[in-house]
Amino acid sequence: MSRIRACLFDLDGVLVDTARYHYLAWKRLAHELGFDFSRRDNERLKGVSRDRSLEILLEIGRLSVDAAAKQELAEKKNRWYVESISHMDETEVLPGGRPFLEELRRAGIRTALGSASKNAMTILRRTQLVDLFDAIVDGTKTARAKPDPEVFLLGARELQVEPQHCVVFEDAAAGIEAALRARMYCVGVGSREALNQAHLVVGSLAEMTLDRLQVFGYL
Ligand code: BG6
Ligand code: MG
Repeated sequence: MSRIRACLFDLDGVLVDTARYHYLAWKRLAHELGFDFSRRDNERLKGVSRDRSLEILLEIGRLSVDAAAKQELAEKKNRWYVESISHMDETEVLPGGRPFLEELRRAGIRTALGSASKNAMTILRRTQLVDLFDAIVDGTKTARAKPDPEVFLLGARELQVEPQHCVVFEDAAAGIEAALRARMYCVGVGSREALNQAHLVVGSLAEMTLDRLQVFGYL
């Protein structure tokens, strides 16, 4: 048990439901390349970097392309994705996200974003969440994708809080592994079966309160 001083949040799937926009863009790319891409396939891309997502998509379609073509395909998918998220607004924050962040801040607990996405700032601005974070670490600041702990360690460093005083909120197995490798407490957001490595699992942030954080330590 140690004092909880900071909470770090994944973005996609924890604070906003952008998985469907990623899915539509990857599916469109798959169709252009001549194969189908199901919602089940899309599960494999959650929490995974853009480049790795493309590799998985190409595996599914049994295609192999050179590095230049890969870059072009990733850019094309991203243009479609950016077009979708450019219409987002504050109503697309998932239930409980904003009130929980506000409650943490009122209690003096520091908050950080820890996302693999290079589009995180666009989403935070569109949904008006920017001001609720003391630090923002996204895919433009990290070199190594989750499950590497880099994104959360950088977040903790920016907050000047030691890992043992941090709690991470994650919806993807790769993110939970990253949090555990960073030696932080981890709350899985989603289904218990998929996230059973986390210290605690909630269905959504609407189930989170300051009181529930006390299972990890005193506040
Ligand atoms: C993660 C998403 O947050 O960001 C992944 O869960 C996505 O699905 C990754 O591939 C990278 O996002 P972006 O916006 O940089 O393509
Ligand atoms: Mg996620």
